[in-house]
Amino acid sequence: MTVVVHTKTELAKARAALPGRVAVVPTMGALHDGHRANFKRAKEIADSVIVTVFVNPLQFRPNEDLDKYPRTLDADLAMCEAEGVDLVFAPSVNEMYPDGREGLTTVHAGPDGEILEGASRPGFFTGVLTVVSKLFHLTRPDAACFGEKDFQQLAMVRRMVRDLDLGIDVEAVPTDREDDGLARSSRNVFLSEAERAAALAIPRAIEAAQASPDPLAAAGAILEAEPGLDVDYVAVRANDLGEAPDRGPARLLIAAKAGTTRLIDNAPVSIGDPR
Ligand code: PAF
Repeated sequence: MTVVVHTKTELAKARAALPGRVAVVPTMGALHDGHRANFKRAKEIADSVIVTVFVNPLQFRPNEDLDKYPRTLDADLAMCEAEGVDLVFAPSVNEMYPDGREGLTTVHAGPDGEILEGASRPGFFTGVLTVVSKLFHLTRPDAACFGEKDFQQLAMVRRMVRDLDLGIDVEAVPTDREDDGLARSSRNVFLSEAERAAALAIPRAIEAAQASPDPLAAAGAILEAEPGLDVDYVAVRANDLGEAPDRGPARLLIAAKAGTTRLIDNAPVSIGDPR
């Protein structure tokens, strides 16, 4: 039976009762099968699993979709129960930021936090790393599972754990895709039929990139040809987010808007020698 707590005091008590190795899966709720894959992985690598459900205002800019972000706590708790999650921490904004956000001490990402998502959404990674480090301190996990869909976030969290000596094993969970190839995201529910059809240029671009010796050009051509997509970036970087190598394994990263919905995706590619 899943124990559900909303305050830090309740969490500390419930956490102390968890046996063995503990894995945490931080989420913003609106759980889907992509999260389910994270929970399953967490259960494989740990004896006890904590899921956090918190829509973190610190990682949204004023013009972004904080108010509109889907909140489905009852369904989220049902999924956690079905997946055998031991403990859910679902705090309020006031519980997490009792002194407000003005003057808050934050965790600032290094230069890798300024590219790609960080360039398009200034302050995003400060918001993410600050809340993730708070959630780590509160849940005291041995391991944490993050989806590869947010590839840059995963890299930033890994880097924070190393740089701040947090001693937590960060486990990457492969991206879960819908039947048509679209990466699962809580934001997919916002897509109209036409927007969803346009969004499918993203998995098509990935497929073309993976079959091409020039993944960036192959993906770019498909994305730019789709009038229903507003491409924010398409980039190839090294797997650690550094400059792309001249040849060999690398990562393709894409962000694009279909209507008002911003989608991101990424996949492994090989430069000069398709996989
Ligand atoms: O990936 C997310 O859902 C969020 O960025 C996270 C890691 C839960 C932090 O709010």
